[in-house]
Amino acid sequence: MIRPRVRPPPFPTPTDVKTPSHSRILILDFGSQYTQVIARRVRECQVFSEIVRCDITAAEIERLAPKGIILSGGPASVYEKGAPQIDPDIFSLGTPVLGICYGMQLMARHLGGEVEFSPQREYGAGVLHIDKGTPLFDGLGEQMDIWNSHGDKLAALPDGFHVVAHTENSAFAAIEDTERHLYALQFHPEVSHTPHGNEIIENFLFRVCHCAMDWTMGSFIDEACERVRQQVGDQKVVLGLSGGVDSSVAAALLHKAIGDQLTCIFVNNGLLRENEAETVQRIFGENFQIKLKYVDASERFLRLLEGVTDPETKRKVIGGEFVRVFEQATEELLAQDHADERPHAGYRFLAQGTLYPDVIESVAIGGNPASLIKSHHNVGGLPEKMNFELVEPLRELFKDEVRQAGLQLGLPNEIVHRQPFPGPGLAVRILGEVTPERLRILRDADTIVVSEMKASDWYYRVWQSFAVLLPVRSVGVMGDQRTYENTIALRIVESQDGMTADWVRMPYEILARISSRIVNEVKGVNRVCFDISTKPPSTIEWE
Ligand code: XMP
Repeated sequence: MIRPRVRPPPFPTPTDVKTPSHSRILILDFGSQYTQVIARRVRECQVFSEIVRCDITAAEIERLAPKGIILSGGPASVYEKGAPQIDPDIFSLGTPVLGICYGMQLMARHLGGEVEFSPQREYGAGVLHIDKGTPLFDGLGEQMDIWNSHGDKLAALPDGFHVVAHTENSAFAAIEDTERHLYALQFHPEVSHTPHGNEIIENFLFRVCHCAMDWTMGSFIDEACERVRQQVGDQKVVLGLSGGVDSSVAAALLHKAIGDQLTCIFVNNGLLRENEAETVQRIFGENFQIKLKYVDASERFLRLLEGVTDPETKRKVIGGEFVRVFEQATEELLAQDHADERPHAGYRFLAQGTLYPDVIESVAIGGNPASLIKSHHNVGGLPEKMNFELVEPLRELFKDEVRQAGLQLGLPNEIVHRQPFPGPGLAVRILGEVTPERLRILRDADTIVVSEMKASDWYYRVWQSFAVLLPVRSVGVMGDQRTYENTIALRIVESQDGMTADWVRMPYEILARISSRIVNEVKGVNRVCFDISTKPPSTIEWE
């Protein structure tokens, strides 16, 4: 039995990750819903960006040596008690600073300007008139559409600053002090409603901060491999491969970095989609020649799920059993190594496909609900329970960057662009008890949904599309026979991050085809419904 032992992960927090060969932009998070969007925009310009807490000190920033600093917006008013503050020494570091919205007000307030309290937010589209040549608006003409979302606004300029643009409602929509490399915007250049916003960000990065375009997937992969090698040395690493995008890309990257020191464990919990186990074994075992331990634990899981109908109990049973199966599989790997008398027996490291949005420290002061981690989705607390240090090679990446990395590492499209699939698998799509027969019905229906979505080119355009088996039987007629059979619900949603979702207005012909195939081909189903609820108040999965 592997004894529980807590060892803090040695991997550096995001702020400590050193990429000295890169231009780096630090984004101080004051709680804006757009902070991550700013980080993405910067990275789209091939410049490395990192989100840090807004209370980072000037000394710490100096140590990190960024080429530039962006202050995000935020919901607070600079006058509010407890409003997030900034170390004012940051403004005299000589590093260029771009303040956006709340970031602008904070900058102005600290440097002797005046901010006018406004109980009403100015929200929506506006037109910016550019008054004076400035590096920020280089090449952008005399006016442009912009997006506003601010309460307070600037009433008097801080010393040394000039106005470079105004709007109908504000004389100080953009200001600068080029001597001290300080720039500020009242509007949001990062959102898509400011159509030329990207060019403003590019101007800041390249004309003001003189960044190099050196954040490319190729350079990331090389450096990530090097970091992994340094972290694990000649020790061995185990990774729980689910077949999802994140764990698959993590596996491919680690394999490139350390080859046979990596062993992946793939657990078949009996709740997988049709052919899933075979696909994962084919892609990773055969194509990539990754050491893959396949554990067929389906019977164990299905036995434990007998008679369980409560959704939370289902999830707990599955999560708990997953940890036990995983522990056992690791012990078997160990025993095998001992038997073979291999050197460096023992798996000190557990690799996970954790992504950047999961590790960004929230602004904390005031809290930023957008960056809360969906803890209930992480299966079973493996690292806390087991004797492992964590290896998380993707923790600097956003999801679309992970996909790019996957393609560059040679993973096929069917893995890199696949839809999310919940850890507890089909169990949370079978309402009521999970039995082999009900699994068979759902699996058959799901296969039809996936194949029709792919055939019509809709599979990759939506967030998720799947079948749900309801605990409802209804009357139908087939040939001359009366039937009394099951109901399948179709769930097809679009979403950015799974936190909110809307149902997709699918063409009727595709819905008709899916429905007709399911009732004709899946034994035990005589009715198909389409779920037209949004999240919130519904959720994407039914359990
Ligand atoms: P809900 O149902 O909460 O789902 O609206 C939001 C997104 O998360 C996925 N999901 C899970 N993913 N383990 C996972 O890895 C889980 O237990 C789990 N539950 C839901 C769901 O498919 C959707 O994309």
